[in-house]
Amino acid sequence: MKFIGRVADGSTETLARVILLKDLEREIVAEELVLIKNGGDENPSSQLLGVLRGGLGKNEFLSHTSYRPDVAYMKYGGEPSGAREVYSFSIRPIGIITEDGIEPNLSIIQPRSPVYLLEEADNPLQLMAREEDIIWMEAHLEKHESWRIPVRKTFIPYHVGVYGSTGSGKSWFTRHILIPLYNNAGYKAVVLDWSGTDYAPHYESPEKTEVVKITDIALDEESVLSYLEDKTENFGRNDYVRDSFGSFIEGWTGKVENAFTTASREGRDPAEILYRQIRAHVDANLSGIKREDWRSTARRVERRVFRRFKARDLRPVMGVLNVEQLLQKLESRDLLVMDMGGVLTEAKLGFFLSLTKHLYNLMEAGENLRIALVVDEAPQYAPWDPKGLQRETTEMIKNLAALGRKRMLNLTLIAQGIKGEIGINAAVRRNLNTHFFGRIHPLDAGGEGGASEWLSPYGIDPEHMLQLKAGKFYFTGAMNPSPIPLLITYKPPEGS
Ligand SMILES: Nc1ncnc2c1ncn2[C@@H]1O[C@H](COP(=O)(O)OP(=O)(O)OP(=O)(O)O)[C@@H](O)[C@H]1O
Ligand SMILES: [Mg+2]
Repeated sequence: MKFIGRVADGSTETLARVILLKDLEREIVAEELVLIKNGGDENPSSQLLGVLRGGLGKNEFLSHTSYRPDVAYMKYGGEPSGAREVYSFSIRPIGIITEDGIEPNLSIIQPRSPVYLLEEADNPLQLMAREEDIIWMEAHLEKHESWRIPVRKTFIPYHVGVYGSTGSGKSWFTRHILIPLYNNAGYKAVVLDWSGTDYAPHYESPEKTEVVKITDIALDEESVLSYLEDKTENFGRNDYVRDSFGSFIEGWTGKVENAFTTASREGRDPAEILYRQIRAHVDANLSGIKREDWRSTARRVERRVFRRFKARDLRPVMGVLNVEQLLQKLESRDLLVMDMGGVLTEAKLGFFLSLTKHLYNLMEAGENLRIALVVDEAPQYAPWDPKGLQRETTEMIKNLAALGRKRMLNLTLIAQGIKGEIGINAAVRRNLNTHFFGRIHPLDAGGEGGASEWLSPYGIDPEHMLQLKAGKFYFTGAMNPSPIPLLITYKPPEGS
């Protein structure tokens, strides 16, 4: 611990300013943790832990709005006096240190109380961790690599938001810090990788992880039909052709499974087998048309459709895994990554609904899930103004959030913004009780629900947040044992 200055005039129980000793303005920076011995070194009434924010340098001789001798002197190239220069920081109290951890401070912080900078060996974060349910993140307080960040485990199912503009390090933070944290806390993780590029490529073969492509998941027949409709230009706009496809699709998953069995027995391509079956089926159907002219029109359309529609087009709809089988994979693994790349948005949202309906039913039946559902690009599922399928997914996320608190389901929603067009739906956002704010978009700084509304009460300047480097986040909310936000970061493992 190092003595750095004293509390200035005008302090309250929730706010104080420290006047720095001479020359310390060069080394003391914002976000450092300090200890105030309230009332003096001898017999202090309490020891108060706090964070430095809002630095201020003052030199009354150098007012830019009034004319003073020093200003005149400086105008002609002279060196103005530093004799009345004062440097100070505001201190946001985290709480008083007691036997049982950190307690809120209710007494006035006395002016003149000495302030100490906490150094590496002091590790003040340990002091916050006296409660029983604390676990530790593999992240540390900015500038102090050995001060790991404590987390209140009980609040994991109270849901988490991770925000930051593109490239601020959200996906990395989730991959390196949050998922291991959840696993440590006894939660299995399911990650929905919207484009299949942020998570899936990084987990190619680790034992405890499985990457599943969305195309391996069985679709309902409705979705298969609309996919084929899209691929065949609405079945050549011929009702006979449409009906033939439609009747083939009945019992689709069974047919796909058979194609796989035959394929492995005969060493052939399952898509090719299925394709031939469809062709044969359509063919047989059309030859049953009685009226000659209708039949020949249908045949012409058939030829045209199959000229464009090929066996390989079937692959995206040849999944046979159902959601139960998918979740069974978690029995022997810690993490399931869904690679959702390469399919249409509707298919992704459709999959999301079938996965979450299943989870919801399990919870309703009284099961404690112990699952963290990590949703990257969350505004795709719950935008500020949901349309079409998004209305259902938004509603579902709200319901999952409410029930999940009691049934040990964590939702971790990741978004580039907090509110408005780039943010998460407001009704959903209200259900998130822990937040990680990375570098923000200027649009998100001000206004209702923006970052500054969350953080300025704690002395964090929104301008500061516009400039955060990748991988640095303000950690705030229920999971944080500190009542005020902490700036945290981590070192990505080599080669990641
Ligand atoms: N802790 C860190 N230290 C240093 N660099 C980092 C750290 N975290 C992330 N980065 C860098 O930032 C880049 C972007 O990270 P990431 O892909 O996680 O951003 P993102 O916020 O998810 O962006 P997007 O919104 O576009 O998905 C990484 O490729 C990496 O180079
Ligand atoms: Mg990302």
